[in-house]
Amino acid sequence: MAKQLWNKGFEPDGSIEEFTVGRDRELDLRLAAYDVQGSMAHIRMLQKIGLLTADELKLLLPALQEIADSIAKGDFVIEDGVEDVHSQVEFLLTSRLGDVGKKIHSGRSRNDQVLVDLKLFFRDELCRITEAVKKLFDRLIALSDEHKDKLMPGYTHLQVAMPSSFGLWFGAYAETLTDDMQLVTAAYNITNRNPLGSAAGYGSSFPLDREETTRLLGFASPHYNVVAAQMSRGKTERAVASAIASVASTLGHFAMDVCMWMCNNFGFVSFPDELTTGSSIMPHKKNPDVFEIMRGKCNRLQAIPNELALLTANLPLGYNRDLQLMKDILFPATTELVECLDMAEFMLRHIRVKDNILDDQRYDYIFTVEDVNRRVLSGVPFRDAYRQIGEAVQRGEYRPTREVHHTHLGSIGCPANDRIVERMEALTAPILVGAKA
Ligand code: ARG
Repeated sequence: MAKQLWNKGFEPDGSIEEFTVGRDRELDLRLAAYDVQGSMAHIRMLQKIGLLTADELKLLLPALQEIADSIAKGDFVIEDGVEDVHSQVEFLLTSRLGDVGKKIHSGRSRNDQVLVDLKLFFRDELCRITEAVKKLFDRLIALSDEHKDKLMPGYTHLQVAMPSSFGLWFGAYAETLTDDMQLVTAAYNITNRNPLGSAAGYGSSFPLDREETTRLLGFASPHYNVVAAQMSRGKTERAVASAIASVASTLGHFAMDVCMWMCNNFGFVSFPDELTTGSSIMPHKKNPDVFEIMRGKCNRLQAIPNELALLTANLPLGYNRDLQLMKDILFPATTELVECLDMAEFMLRHIRVKDNILDDQRYDYIFTVEDVNRRVLSGVPFRDAYRQIGEAVQRGEYRPTREVHHTHLGSIGCPANDRIVERMEALTAPILVGAKA
């Protein structure tokens, strides 16, 4: 039996179907629960505007709920010959309820169905990302507080530069995550608008109540203009991808730091043996593979905005099937980012930090600026003090005082973690509270 929703009495060539359906049967499973949710809101609205009777709604809602239950149990599949999740749900309804099942498609198209599914899906994914970011953030802040006074070298040009601290290092990544959260928030707000009712992309002659479906699906507002709603396919994905890439750039950078600090020549941080990996030839190795894979994955995630930009560049207005391919790129990405964030948090629960690093002579010059500043505070002009210390270094006579006394906002002594925490709470709370509502 022909199973395409658009079947008009001829069978499309099998190879055409395979080529156009692509990975949809597998990827759409992640949209299934949202597809049913969207259909439930749509038919409630159809009943409200008189396109379905109360009795029809009474048949349809429990049948949709049954499908939702099978999805939750993991029993739902998209059968061979069925193009996508939207078709599968409609076929199940029609085979269970007959003609009533066919009525749910009034006033909508798969174009706005997939849009609404994606908006609901990304909204939840952004929430998962927010939770994972927040968990890692909390861990970083705790480590920053715990190791507030432990000094480490700061580098510029990868040359020993000035004193830094583990408090600053951990805290720096925590604060950078708050910047990333600005992009996550923007992506969330762009996502959180209801496209349902835009149908194929140009609306419908039925008197659809779009405010009603907006309310039922918990969107912040409708995506008003139907053409703009359809245009948001692609735009939404790119916003989500930018948010992912932003978080990934922070995490990838952090992973690189850890790889370097784990290097035997630095040895600033270490992990219990069971969290390291080995070599098949060198018996002594304890490798940082976790952070290398994390770095690689995060670098790859940063390519996604470019991939999506190229995929969607200069598409004509309205729906085009190219848009389907964004799912292949973005669906694995949200999962991968959350896995990386969770893994980073897990590893950091076990990180060991080296004490008294700066006592080593190789870091003596790290104190030159402290010593210049000390002279300045006792009345020597900065340039003179700079020259005096510089010449002592040149003559090999510089001996550091090893005293570090930083007091200004955001410095070694006072990383302002409480303010950074406030900033993060303000950004994450609306998303996490929205998720629970
Ligand atoms: N699988 C399609 C997608 O993801 C669903 C929408 C199909 N619409 C269409 N007009 N062929 O874009």
